[in-house]
Amino acid sequence: MGTLTFLRRREAAPGPLEPPPSARAGGPHDGPRDSPGAAAGSVSFRQVGKVYRTPAGDVHALREIDIDIPAGGVFGIIGRSGAGKSSLLRTINRLETPSSGRVLVDGTDLATLDAAALVALRRRIGMIFQHFNLLSAKTVWDNVALPLKVAGVPRAQIGPRVEELLGLVGLEGKQRAYPGQLSGGQKQRVGIARALVHRPEILLCDEATSALDPETTQSILALLRDINRRLGLTVVLITHEMRVIRDICDRVLVLEGGRIAEHGLVWEVFGNPRHAATRALLQPLQAGLPDDLARRLLAAPPAHGACEQLVELHYSGAGAAPELAGIAAALGGQARLLHAGVDRIQGHSQGRMLLAAPAGGLSAEALAGATRSQHAKVIGYVPADH
Ligand SMILES: Nc1ncnc2c1ncn2[C@@H]1O[C@H](COP(=O)(O)OP(=O)(O)OP(=O)(O)O)[C@@H](O)[C@H]1O
Ligand SMILES: [Mg+2]
Repeated sequence: MGTLTFLRRREAAPGPLEPPPSARAGGPHDGPRDSPGAAAGSVSFRQVGKVYRTPAGDVHALREIDIDIPAGGVFGIIGRSGAGKSSLLRTINRLETPSSGRVLVDGTDLATLDAAALVALRRRIGMIFQHFNLLSAKTVWDNVALPLKVAGVPRAQIGPRVEELLGLVGLEGKQRAYPGQLSGGQKQRVGIARALVHRPEILLCDEATSALDPETTQSILALLRDINRRLGLTVVLITHEMRVIRDICDRVLVLEGGRIAEHGLVWEVFGNPRHAATRALLQPLQAGLPDDLARRLLAAPPAHGACEQLVELHYSGAGAAPELAGIAAALGGQARLLHAGVDRIQGHSQGRMLLAAPAGGLSAEALAGATRSQHAKVIGYVPADH
């Protein structure tokens, strides 16, 4: 059944930049489905569990994941390292098979697909990676053309399709360049073009901007959002950067220890984080940390090597004004100011400061006293060797 479903969908491929046929709302479904009403580009997890069997014992990567990803939106998955994000994402194109439960794409249970249907499914689901996964010995043009050649698309159709995709991702004129001659952002644009060759309904992004600088990250995010809107495809992305979620996602899922901590609309979850894991993840964003530091923030000092501590000082108007020389001295003489917003209200200092300083032995109370702030907090640690 699955084979027929997916083959028929491909035969009805639309014009170059049109949305996939199935992305149009209310289109007829072309095969028997587990959930006949499921929209194209939707994903449902039903009590999904994943256990990795290792020589050291079983690793329960996912437990009881039960959630729907609506079609056509940008869906973010966040969680600490090891929370199960990649494991979950990879069940959507069956790079991972669940140990229990079911994953449905457009209502079709992926466990029912035979080998041919699985190939067809993977063409409907594009994927981009943190390290781009480009073939270094092939040109930009060949990297994008390769999946079309493998799929047996006639030569005459490949050229126009590749040109069109390179235009879509803003890489006109780079056809003959090799990946080694491109910037990180340009490489990821090639990765995005390649992921879109088969006009997928779903685009999976596993930390697609983690290797990029903040400015390039913004341009890639804008491109993903644009593709989501223009092509009507569902984007599912994993990121450690909360700004990414805030800026482009509609919904967010927070995983903790393989379980759902919470999920919902981004403004609801970020506006009122209920789970401790969410609050911990959001702390850098709320603290106004620059992206590069937020990305490297650790909850505890690393076991090896020097590190800096990030200290937040609050001035609530009750005490003395913040005095920079005193603050620097309290922080070991080498404090760097990262972010500050201190106001004078009716003659009293009010606001907060965020500083980086060599990790030191002072307690939060001692720091507050020494910096004449009402409240001091060490919000995390950043390795110094970066
Ligand atoms: N192939 C594997 N074999 C054994 N254990 C695995 C395998 N893949 C992942 N795991 C384990 O499963 C758990 C979840 O891993 P996963 O890669 O899904 O986490 P993640 O949230 O993507 O983490 P990160 O943010 O570091 O990428 C971790 O404990 C990990 O060590
Ligand atoms: Mg991962």
